[in-house]
Amino acid sequence: MRVLVTGGAGFIGSAVCRLLVSRYGISVVNLDKLTYAANPCSLDLIAADRRYVFERADVCDRSALDAIFTKYCPTAVIHLAAESHVDRSITGAAAFIDTNFVGTYQLLEAARHYYATLTPDRRKEFRFVHVSTDEVYGSLGAEGRFCEDTPYRPSSPYSASKAASDHLAHAWFKTYDLPVIVSNCSNNYGPYQFPEKLIPLIILNAIEGKPLPVYGQGTNVRDWLYVEDHAEGLITLLSNGRPGEKYNFGGDSERTNLEVVERICSTLDDVSPGPQPRRSLIKFVADRPGHDLRYAIDASKAHRELGWRPRQTFDDGIEKTVHWYLENNAWWGPSRQTVYKGERLGLAEASL
Ligand SMILES: NC(=O)c1ccc[n+]([C@@H]2O[C@H](COP(=O)([O-])OP(=O)(O)OC[C@H]3O[C@@H](n4cnc5c(N)ncnc54)[C@H](O)[C@@H]3O)[C@@H](O)[C@H]2O)c1
Repeated sequence: MRVLVTGGAGFIGSAVCRLLVSRYGISVVNLDKLTYAANPCSLDLIAADRRYVFERADVCDRSALDAIFTKYCPTAVIHLAAESHVDRSITGAAAFIDTNFVGTYQLLEAARHYYATLTPDRRKEFRFVHVSTDEVYGSLGAEGRFCEDTPYRPSSPYSASKAASDHLAHAWFKTYDLPVIVSNCSNNYGPYQFPEKLIPLIILNAIEGKPLPVYGQGTNVRDWLYVEDHAEGLITLLSNGRPGEKYNFGGDSERTNLEVVERICSTLDDVSPGPQPRRSLIKFVADRPGHDLRYAIDASKAHRELGWRPRQTFDDGIEKTVHWYLENNAWWGPSRQTVYKGERLGLAEASL
């Protein structure tokens, strides 16, 4: 078995690569463009393993994709490459349309032409897992959870580009019989996440004694899933997922943003006390334009059909994550100094 992972130098993709190689002994080809969000050091644990190969390529580059399929003959694809930060999509949607929509189209086409060359036995085995987000479903009120058949109502340029790519993926199953599986997942957190996203940004600002920005009143609710639990779910799809189906993954851990930030503060105060309680650094700032109020996931189909369940509780996961950032300055320090210093992103006026 050899899995082509796209976006494997990113947060979730690197967790998938590490797990495939070190826990399951499965060969991996990591295809990544290495954008600002990538960090090749996330693959250090497997970089020297003979089962791991890296190919720098853009998912929009069809001839590069064809060459990689021909060279490695993968038995499956897990497609994670994407522009992934909602705030950046508000001020620069073009890259999201290019990579998330056009890139997914190019990858589906490359996979379809490759699939046509396979023997019937190898076709039976082949899977294309398209990784998406719960944000495609739009916002919930105080009640209810997203199911696989919840209608799509994306709010941001990011979620609209992901929704569009989900439709392409499903169409390639319906029209061309490519064995595509779509997964929609809630917010991930854990080690190796680029520090523009809420949890690592708050951890690093709190470590450095900087203000902790909370959008609006901090009442927006997200469901949080530990990244390794998500990676396990994606790998399970290769064996237990049914082509043409969608699966939601969630952590059963709904929290308001303010609760998340306060939890990080209290964890850090316990393990690495600062001159003042970290909560005093919380600063409420202008809300994100179009900010969805609440996301919650019904993952019962994944529990039932895949035998998958998240293992990590939110409090334990946050503790592990805080420890990891405390101990891995060498991973996040350079990009925090050069690529992204923690400034506010995603104010709509800035896009004019
Ligand atoms: N992080 C989350 O909470 C979350 C939740 C649900 C779904 N997702 C989805 O999971 C996937 C991975 O998310 P992530 O948080 O790991 O993202 P990330 O931003 O950490 O990593 C994305 C990776 O894709 C690569 N990439 C970007 N454009 C590319 C291109 N044109 N060609 C090849 N590679 C390219 C980047 O270099 C990077 O390594 C995305 O599709 C995202 O929409 C993320």
